[in-house]
Amino acid sequence: MPKHPLVSRRRALLLGLGTLASMGTLGMGRSKYLSYQIEALDDPKRDFTAVGEASLKERAAAKGLIYGAAMRYPALFSDAKLANCFVRECGILVPEWGLKWYVPGVPLRPNPDKFDFTEADWMAQFAKTNSLLYRGHTLVWHESLPPWFKDTVNSQNAEQVLVKHIKTVAGRYAGKMHSWDVVNEAIATYEKRQDNLRKTPWLELLGPNYIDTAFRVAAETDPKALLVYNDFGLEYDTPEDEAKRTAVLKLLERLKSKGTPVQALGIQAHLLGGETRFNSKKLREFFSNVASMGLKILITELDVTDKNLPKNTAVRDRIVAASLEDYLAVALDEPAVIAVLTWGLSDRVTWLSDFQSRSDGAAVRPLPLDADLKPKLAWNAIARALDSAPKR
Ligand code: G3I
Repeated sequence: MPKHPLVSRRRALLLGLGTLASMGTLGMGRSKYLSYQIEALDDPKRDFTAVGEASLKERAAAKGLIYGAAMRYPALFSDAKLANCFVRECGILVPEWGLKWYVPGVPLRPNPDKFDFTEADWMAQFAKTNSLLYRGHTLVWHESLPPWFKDTVNSQNAEQVLVKHIKTVAGRYAGKMHSWDVVNEAIATYEKRQDNLRKTPWLELLGPNYIDTAFRVAAETDPKALLVYNDFGLEYDTPEDEAKRTAVLKLLERLKSKGTPVQALGIQAHLLGGETRFNSKKLREFFSNVASMGLKILITELDVTDKNLPKNTAVRDRIVAASLEDYLAVALDEPAVIAVLTWGLSDRVTWLSDFQSRSDGAAVRPLPLDADLKPKLAWNAIARALDSAPKR
């Protein structure tokens, strides 16, 4: 496990600052204290030099890893410069929208009887033309369900609807899909169920076995695809993330004990810039526990929310880069980790602009390339982590 002097030095710094600041918090507002703490995360002396000219794709491949990103059909279709950057930097493509049941625009499931593969087929062809791997996201999720779902799907037909969806969608790309997020975000410890399952329409309609059914049908339909359980909130040394890691491990153990064909865990890794509760030892242990079940691991949606970071882009970029490099140093130390995908490639196109925007109105900066498609320190951080990773 990599010793991270900086992380422990940073922690020591924070501890010191925390102590000082705690004496002063009576006089300072909490938010002032927090921004003080976050500023202390910034280390202007930290070296983010990446050696050589190789792309992230090439640096990953040199270690037997895959690097890639999610992309939206409208952006990839219409933005040639972004598409060129994608082909240069990425070895795998996952549609951000096109393989979900329903995202406004050109939805996959416009009505109960129709499948519209326009976006997903175009993305598959783009991947093939550019020798990229293609991955699917996601066959079963509680979000992005079509408007017709709640009035059409009931406990009598739910299994038939689910099976038909998986057979039709996974069947269309059978043999061509690197991996599928078969089930996404099924765990929610706050629901207080004994099995920690999220109360989704699928759970309510089919019971806990919907997960096993989904994986079995996906395995029958596309025996070549790596079948992934994908989730978020697994990253930090917080009670919530610790509980979720435990619950995800128990879910995977239950599935494996039943012979469910789950082959990998997808860790979304939506990192929180400024989150100081990062414990590399606990995180490494989690990766080892997943790997000890014989599962592969993919980092599936890596990015860094910078909404609570200072507006100064030099400071923000350093903190985002430090978050990425510290996280990936732990993740890539685990040989079962086979791929790293960021949830977008450029700040030009990121869900965080809509979903985690900054109160000061400044553009968010979560991804390897800036909005002008120039590499940022985030790019360097990923490059350095790939260069330092043990070869697979
Ligand atoms: O563009 C339309 C707009 O024209 C319309 O008026 C509006 C009405 O709701 O919808 C807009 O589309 C939205 C789209 O993002 C573009 O902003 C969709 O509603 C909205 O659902 C969609 O959100 C996506 C979300 O998943 C739900 O599918 C995000 O882009 C996407 O980044 C996000 O990705 C998820 C992963 O799938 C799972 N893990 C978490 C990750 C982030 O939430």
